[in-house]
Amino acid sequence: MKDRIEELLKEIETFAGSAEDHAEEFRLKYLSRKGQVSSLFDDFKNVPNELKRDVGQLLNKLKNRAQERWDELRSSSASTTNSAKFNFDPTLPVGGFLGSRHPLSLVRREIIEIFGRLGFTVAEGPEIEDDWHNFTALNFPEEHPARDMQDTFFIADKIALRTHTSSVQVRVLENTKPPVRMLMPGRVYRNEAISARAHCFFHQVEGLYVDKNVSFADLKQTLLYFSREMFGADTQIRLRPSYFPFTEPSAEMDISCTICSGKGCNVCKHSGWVEIMGCGMVDPAVLQNCGIDANVYSGFAFGMGIERITMLKYGVNDLRLFSENDVRFIGQFRSAL
Ligand code: DAH
Repeated sequence: MKDRIEELLKEIETFAGSAEDHAEEFRLKYLSRKGQVSSLFDDFKNVPNELKRDVGQLLNKLKNRAQERWDELRSSSASTTNSAKFNFDPTLPVGGFLGSRHPLSLVRREIIEIFGRLGFTVAEGPEIEDDWHNFTALNFPEEHPARDMQDTFFIADKIALRTHTSSVQVRVLENTKPPVRMLMPGRVYRNEAISARAHCFFHQVEGLYVDKNVSFADLKQTLLYFSREMFGADTQIRLRPSYFPFTEPSAEMDISCTICSGKGCNVCKHSGWVEIMGCGMVDPAVLQNCGIDANVYSGFAFGMGIERITMLKYGVNDLRLFSENDVRFIGQFRSAL
């Protein structure tokens, strides 16, 4: 036993682990419950009585030395990892690329901020949505061709990636007693070929205002305010009759072209107007589907694509730029928000 202790005393002096964490390897090998030093202590009871004094002293020496070695290894490995990981000077000036927000995030924040001034708060809903919230409650009858307006990615029976943020209107109305004044930003998905003008995913912001006596004039004034705050005080708006299953009446809203100020250019196809959102009065059937008495309450809703607003605001001509993460593109955007 004495020989074995002497041997270990030598061994621990020259210990060089192979694992990344030498100190832990050392501990496991010698000091842990199943380690070699502990097992010598277990064997100590078998040492004949007349040798116990000598062997005991030696064993204690081994144990103390092993503890010391472990401390040494721990402090040396801590200092090497520290210096490798933290060897930088935080006072150096930043070189090269400075981080910036994604243009879509900037515009989403700006939209939220503008409507925030009118008392709108923000709600979010899931991107994986069921048929009820994405279609049925929004008054898309089963098998109705209106469902084809949006090419849907189904992931299971009656479960799909949401095709619009209008689904969040349903979730909000099911859970909130009017008055409701909400803005619902989020990512949406459609099974479309990717091009400069279309993508299989993009972002929308939905707006919803439900209270007693909400009128189409309220909708119009709200959207005029938004358009002028977003695109400049001279911006004009135009509402064209349209169709959506969940609004009645429905409209599409154009703004005077931000590129040519209405004179006519490629972006507005020489019409002077560009479409930026769909809107309308919430169909009473939608309110009823969500448990709200349509005889007491009315409301308006609108939905816009964040990419589209961003393209018009910053003169971006290819939708794909937003998802390619080329820092030469996304690094150009700066805003106070
Ligand atoms: N959900 C529609 C779409 O994705 C946009 C829309 C139209 C939203 C009218 C609305 C609305 O809230 O009232 O094309």
